Amino acid sequence: MDSFQNSSDLRFHLDRALADGCTIGFVPTMGALHSGHLALIAESIANNDFTVASIYVNPTQFNNPNDLKTYPRQPEKDLDLLRKAGCNAVFFPADDDLYPNGVRTGNYDLGILDEVIEGHFRPGHFQGVATVVDALFKTVQPHRAYFGEKDFQQVAVIRQMARIHHPNIQIISCPTIRKTDGLAMSSRNLRLSPEQRTVATTLSKALFFLRDQGAALPLSEAKNKALSIIEAVPEISLEYLEIVNPETFERLSKWSNGTEVRACISAYLGDIRLIDNVGIKS
Ligand code: PAJ
Repeated sequence: MDSFQNSSDLRFHLDRALADGCTIGFVPTMGALHSGHLALIAESIANNDFTVASIYVNPTQFNNPNDLKTYPRQPEKDLDLLRKAGCNAVFFPADDDLYPNGVRTGNYDLGILDEVIEGHFRPGHFQGVATVVDALFKTVQPHRAYFGEKDFQQVAVIRQMARIHHPNIQIISCPTIRKTDGLAMSSRNLRLSPEQRTVATTLSKALFFLRDQGAALPLSEAKNKALSIIEAVPEISLEYLEIVNPETFERLSKWSNGTEVRACISAYLGDIRLIDNVGIKS
């Protein structure tokens, strides 16, 4: 596996792969890799001749400076995992490579995505995500790029940005990978204490209740039951639990006649913010 710190070296290498007729798959990450990331790498390897991963903790998407400071970083371990996974190249850009005019957020038309649920609670976050993924796409110019459903609204943001700025890149979303007890894998899980790690499963328990039993009840009753699962655990501070239309992200007050809807949750355990979501066949 080749490792690149500068976009022109990476571009030179990718142009050679393209000249050989390779298709390029791309998996952007912020590192501290786990099986969720590796599932994206595996999907890219299965469907492309050449797979590139990037590792860059993007400052413009952190609306909380402490979250940026404490975000887990383990580059050596990540390199080892990517090598073993069969990834062809890894890109570790420096700030001034992705942000030649200074680390600044762009201005993208994200419609309502910027205002609802994650957009509401993390002002500026999705503009930062769109900015960095746009910059990464400009350098890598992949045929396909892979993202996790774990960050369900992020996938919608990237599709929206790519529709306008990178219409030839196929955006592929992959299912959320979970621990056997249901907890969605996340780099931030590394920061949980053993006690917090135990109670963190309450988030997926509430979502699985909605997925498996929710549609048998009126939506507001199902939501209240899910809320009571969370509220029974005092260590969890809920930010939101919303059931939304998966395309428009509008909050629903009733189930939608057999079409799939999304339940999305965000909560703090101490200062660690976790998010998760599931599809519900209503
Ligand atoms: P990061 O949190 O490192 O995630 C990188 C990719 O892995 C994202 O597409 C995310 O949705 C996916 N992922 C994370 N946990 C997952 C899980 N449990 N199952 C499946 N996929 C999972 O998301 C980001 O980085 C950044 O916002 C980024 C897109 C790289 C832009 O900076």
